Amino acid sequence: MYQLVYISTAKSVEDAEIERILAQSRRNNQRDEVTGLLLYNGRRFLQALEGPSAAVYRTYERIRADERHRAAVMLSSKMVEQRQFGNWEMACERVNVGGAQSSLIKKVDALVAGLSDPTLRAQFTSYVRLHTAV
Ligand SMILES: Cc1cc2nc3c(=O)[nH]c(=O)nc-3n(C[C@H](O)[C@H](O)[C@H](O)COP(=O)(O)O)c2cc1C
Repeated sequence: MYQLVYISTAKSVEDAEIERILAQSRRNNQRDEVTGLLLYNGRRFLQALEGPSAAVYRTYERIRADERHRAAVMLSSKMVEQRQFGNWEMACERVNVGGAQSSLIKKVDALVAGLSDPTLRAQFTSYVRLHTAV
C-alpha cells in the first residue's frame, strides 16, 4: 500500500467547485482503489492519497496538473502496512480560516494524532502551522 501526502494552494476555488472535485475524486478513486482525505481551508489543500502505488502516482500526476490549484508540495510518500486515513473514496473537510487559532491546525493535529510515524506527524503539524500563519 502506498501513501502520498501533499499540500497546495487553491486558485479561487468556490464551494461549488469543491463539490465537483469531490465528485470526480470519488468516481475515479473508487475505480482505482485509492482512498484518502482532503482538507481545505479556503486557501490551502492538504490531501492524503492511499492505494496501490501505480494508482496513487497516476492520481497525483493528474491532480498536480489541475489548474484549480498550484504549488503542490509533496510532504511524504512511502509504503505503509495498511491504510491510515480510513476507507473513504475521498473524505473532505472544509475548515474555517481564522477563528480561535486556525481550525485547520486543530483538524490536522487530530488527524495525525493516530499516525504511527512520528516524522510524518511532525511534518504535518509543522507544515500546516507554517502555511496557515498570517
Ligand atoms: C485539490 C484537488 C484534489 C483532487 N483530488 C482528486 C482525487 O483524489 N482523485 C481524482 O481522481 N481526482 C482528484 N482531483 C481532480 C483531478 O485533478 C482531475 O481533475 C480529475 O481526476 C480528472 O478526472 P476525469 O479524468 O475523470 O475527468 C483533485 C483536484 C484538486 C484540485
